[in-house]
Amino acid sequence: MRQKKLKYVNLEMLKSLGVITDIKKIETKDTPSYLEIGSGKGQFITSLQKAYPSHHYLALEVNMNVCYRILEKKMEQKLDDLSIILGDANHLLDYFFEHSIEGIYLNFSDPWLKAKHHKRRLTAPKFLRMYQTILKKDGFLQFRTDHQDLFEESLFDLEKYFETIEINRNLEVSEHMTEYEEKKRPYGPIYQWIGKVKQHVE
Ligand SMILES: C[S@@+](CC[C@H](N)C(=O)[O-])C[C@H]1O[C@@H](n2cnc3c(N)ncnc32)[C@H](O)[C@@H]1O
Repeated sequence: MRQKKLKYVNLEMLKSLGVITDIKKIETKDTPSYLEIGSGKGQFITSLQKAYPSHHYLALEVNMNVCYRILEKKMEQKLDDLSIILGDANHLLDYFFEHSIEGIYLNFSDPWLKAKHHKRRLTAPKFLRMYQTILKKDGFLQFRTDHQDLFEESLFDLEKYFETIEINRNLEVSEHMTEYEEKKRPYGPIYQWIGKVKQHVE
């Protein structure tokens, strides 16, 4: 995600404004908790938190400057219940208790085109196993992208760990769209897959 380096943004500043910057277990609330991984500038997750104030949404973003853009939206819209984590999906098991999350959203994740980099995709088996661990038994994963190859290639692994609920290769415009989705829509279809945790993985 392209975002200029913001000179005034640093770790201490984000921390003082409530962003979770330490790698430690996060207590989810009694209300249903939903996690977006690689939230970018946060339009999707803030729109969900606004629409469903009784839920607890968590945004995980690895880039500090991009993370600040989520924080700006949280403050402007007074979304006190939204949690923002400056962190890497590789540490998911350090952040979340087992079976504590209702749903995970992956929106327009980096496609990592070279075969030798496919393991870095947020739809790679290493990540899918972590999603299974932190999701509740009836939890779901939703994956949306404009990248046809990433979508089709990811289906193979997604269907190993999750039971498909929906595959859509031309997703309609919706109320909850990311910055990327708005930018990419004019150029082609948007793909979406939704699955729920498989109880027994072969
Ligand atoms: C292509 S952008 C999409 C941003 C946003 N989801 C959207 O659709 O507008 C991918 C985002 O994922 C973040 N990201 C990539 N790998 C990540 C990881 N391992 N953990 C957390 N965030 C990650 C990047 O910093 C970037 O902001």
